[in-house]
Amino acid sequence: MKVVGVIGYPLGHSLSPVFQQAAFTVMGLDIRYERWETPPERLHEVVASLRGPHYLGANVTVPYKVEVMPMLDELEEVALQAGAVNTIVNRHGRLLGYNTDVAGFTQALREAGCKIKGVRALILGAGGAARAAALALTKEGAAMVVVTNRTYHRAFQLAESLRPMAHHTVVRAIPLTYAALQQAGPVWDLIVNATTLGMPSGPEADKSPLPSELIPQKALVFDMVYGPTPTPLLKAAMERGARGVDGLAMLIYQGAESFRLWTGLEPPLQVMMAAAKEALRLPTSHG
Ligand SMILES: NC(=O)c1ccc[n+]([C@@H]2O[C@H](COP(=O)([O-])OP(=O)(O)OC[C@H]3O[C@@H](n4cnc5c(N)ncnc54)[C@H](OP(=O)(O)O)[C@@H]3O)[C@@H](O)[C@H]2O)c1
Repeated sequence: MKVVGVIGYPLGHSLSPVFQQAAFTVMGLDIRYERWETPPERLHEVVASLRGPHYLGANVTVPYKVEVMPMLDELEEVALQAGAVNTIVNRHGRLLGYNTDVAGFTQALREAGCKIKGVRALILGAGGAARAAALALTKEGAAMVVVTNRTYHRAFQLAESLRPMAHHTVVRAIPLTYAALQQAGPVWDLIVNATTLGMPSGPEADKSPLPSELIPQKALVFDMVYGPTPTPLLKAAMERGARGVDGLAMLIYQGAESFRLWTGLEPPLQVMMAAAKEALRLPTSHG
């Protein structure tokens, strides 16, 4: 038996064990997916243990996507550009770091019918997920990426670090205030929530990062947060008649990339999605 798991702290919200295990089982793979809730003082030890022969690797989630990087032997290009690792692969005792959030976000956005080239996007947040979104949009030729965050200097730093990679994209930061957002104007074709606001398991489950009047009617609102009911931001988008998508498809696509990296096999996407929806008690295509 091989073992893989998710490293984070706390891990209450993670659906990865549910849909990854469903995928391994349906493919007849002798792999167990475990939850490794890891307090900070144990992070080194848990990561080092992944070098053992029966470990395939791990997923890494909040708050360790950046902190694990120096503990690994090699980082692939997207992980370096994103400045974050969400997938570790154990290759014969060497630990390789990948970022599959960038690909997961891009695929989910395309599936939602968004043509990324030329898009004018507002990103709410400046943590690891915001960075993955900003990198994906920049790489795919967005016309404009504006990053806004509660802690302004993090948005500023994100924008600064992306600029050298942004050949066709205007990248800038603005404060997360009503006045600054209003002044930037309702130009957005795409609004991405990469803050923790609206997370059902979090303390601010009922808060939207943006009031509905600042959402242009033509915009696509992509909320990385997901849950059994529409998030406050998606409700605000609905009020404006704008289209909204939650983060469930992104979750499945980033996980599917991790599955590919660990096993070398094509992931059973429908099984993964159905298992995640069942865990969230959403209707599945199987009824
Ligand atoms: N669907 C998916 O596959 C997927 C993948 C990755 C992440 N996500 C989701 O994306 C979200 C962010 O994840 P992350 O890894 O980037 O987390 P993170 O690095 O901890 O960043 C959290 C972000 O939320 C902001 N924030 C927190 N509380 C806030 C508040 N009260 N008001 C305004 N902003 C607030 C933070 O602002 P400050 O800088 O001011 O603290 C920061 O920008 C989470 O909800 C996560 O579940 C989803």
